[in-house]
Amino acid sequence: MSGKIALVYKSKYGSTKKYAKWIQEELDCDIYERDKVNIKKILEYDTIIYAGGLYASGIKGFKLIKKNIDKISEKRLILLAVGYCLGSERDIDTIKERNLQDGLDKKLEFFYLRGGLNFNELKFFDKTAMKMLRNKLANKKEPLTEEETLLLGCYEKPHDWTSKKNIIPLIEYIKGK
Ligand SMILES: Cc1cc2nc3c(=O)[nH]c(=O)nc-3n(C[C@H](O)[C@H](O)[C@H](O)COP(=O)(O)O)c2cc1C
Repeated sequence: MSGKIALVYKSKYGSTKKYAKWIQEELDCDIYERDKVNIKKILEYDTIIYAGGLYASGIKGFKLIKKNIDKISEKRLILLAVGYCLGSERDIDTIKERNLQDGLDKKLEFFYLRGGLNFNELKFFDKTAMKMLRNKLANKKEPLTEEETLLLGCYEKPHDWTSKKNIIPLIEYIKGK
């Protein structure tokens, strides 16, 4: 592992932040909240890790990296998305299609980890969006998929799939193992 590493993250309810702190502990790298850092600072590093929560398949705050990709393309870039989905091949394809257009996926290494969902703590807008989704699922004629069933369960009680061991593949990749 060589060069300076920056980890930039954006987390709305804390799951991505938890992963970011664990990664920072393992790599002993500099860590920044997305809204408290600018691109000039990020460009001082050789390796950049961007971590963001998933909202309607979009990676929160990733625009900062995307719009500066030409300046970053000389560097090693790692992208981590955190969401509730199971992380199936189809899920990953959807996330990549939504966030990594125009060959962007070839310029970085992508990782996905499961976060959590606590319906009761959601802010008004997010709660409304999730209520609409629940109604849609409740009225669905076809049988629910595993993921949809899992999601409905999140309305009943909080779910947290975060675990420090989940970061191992990402850490090993960065350390070049
Ligand atoms: C309104 C809303 C939309 C979401 N959309 C997705 C999604 O498209 N895919 C997914 O896997 N997770 C989705 N999630 C789940 C979040 O990504 C998950 O709660 C994650 O842990 C959030 O990370 P954060 O707490 O760091 O912001 C959504 C959550 C909310 C509240």
